[in-house]
Amino acid sequence: MRYTGLIERYKDRLPVNSNTNIISLGEGNTPLIKLNNIPKDIGKDVDMYIKYEGLNPTGSFKDRGMTMAVTKAVEEGSKAIICASTGNTSAAAAAYAARAGIKAFVIIPEGKIALGKLAQAMIHGAVILQIKGNFDDGMRMVKEVADHAPVSIVNSINLFRLQGQKTAAFEIVEELGDAPDYHCLPVGNAGNISAHWIGYSEYFKEGKSSKTPKMVGYQAAGAAPFVTGHMVDNPETVATAIRIGHPQSHHLALQIEKMSGGWFDSFSDEDILKAQKFLTEREGIFCEPASATSVAGALQDIQSGKIPEGSSVVCTLTGHGLKDPDTAIGQCDVKPILVNPDLNEVKQAILDNM
Ligand code: F0G
Repeated sequence: MRYTGLIERYKDRLPVNSNTNIISLGEGNTPLIKLNNIPKDIGKDVDMYIKYEGLNPTGSFKDRGMTMAVTKAVEEGSKAIICASTGNTSAAAAAYAARAGIKAFVIIPEGKIALGKLAQAMIHGAVILQIKGNFDDGMRMVKEVADHAPVSIVNSINLFRLQGQKTAAFEIVEELGDAPDYHCLPVGNAGNISAHWIGYSEYFKEGKSSKTPKMVGYQAAGAAPFVTGHMVDNPETVATAIRIGHPQSHHLALQIEKMSGGWFDSFSDEDILKAQKFLTEREGIFCEPASATSVAGALQDIQSGKIPEGSSVVCTLTGHGLKDPDTAIGQCDVKPILVNPDLNEVKQAILDNM
């Protein structure tokens, strides 16, 4: 059967009915890739999987929530949506609004969103408001303006978003035949970790899995309110997607940490970029810097034994590497080799670099 998106697939578990006009781009159903090389490289016997959410239609997990949020906004008669964003939400909002024929307003921090994401918001025709401030300032503006203008908020404070995003957990349980022992995610606003917990809990309660995973959230050291224990007013990190100091789902995520038996930790930009490169070079999987935070974290905790051998571990890669080409190129020492279109020159270049 033709796959037509996660609402159609999970309609019995989502707030839709047979009359709902579904706004979809075929999101969800993303690959769960088992890592072959990295566990051997680190000498640990673990089943490590990547949930490659960068392969959603706009290149990030946000599409799972956006299909739900825009479907409901249209159902409620809304003609415009608005979000604050570090980039990916704005790309998804712009695309799904275009699909639905409604307007998207996106508020982004000036100069701090990756090029690919800005290109997406622009080409899909969103109205882009760049603010001289960070994501948290943008979020504050969105909440205030939504009370004064006829626009639906599609940030993850919109609970339909979390409903859509919970389907990633369903897919993982179905594919593995059970929940994993550990699920590692990069955390910014903490919407996604919350959505996964909702999904895992739903399947566990119905006996579709024998357990729920320990939920492990990893942050960038310069934007790590869950690790420092206090909000951060001037978050900074190369992983711009998670450059957030005042997470909206803060309380929910702290409850999930306790209920699941998981934990939070943080990593330097250097460690995050190292993990991004390790994954691309050793497994052929390219994710954006924020996403690599989950791998940086899992690798550290597997190596230290905090995640014991014999465990199954899923790391969510939230966004595609192509979202942020500047950062990718910036961390490659090897530059293209300039040659003339001459057989000897090309042959020599190959031999020199074998
Ligand atoms: N990874 C990526 C690539 C993201 O874009 C985000 C959030 C996260 C992780 C964190 O997810 O907020 O649910 O904890 N990006 C939002 C945006 C804030 O505007 O695109 P979270």
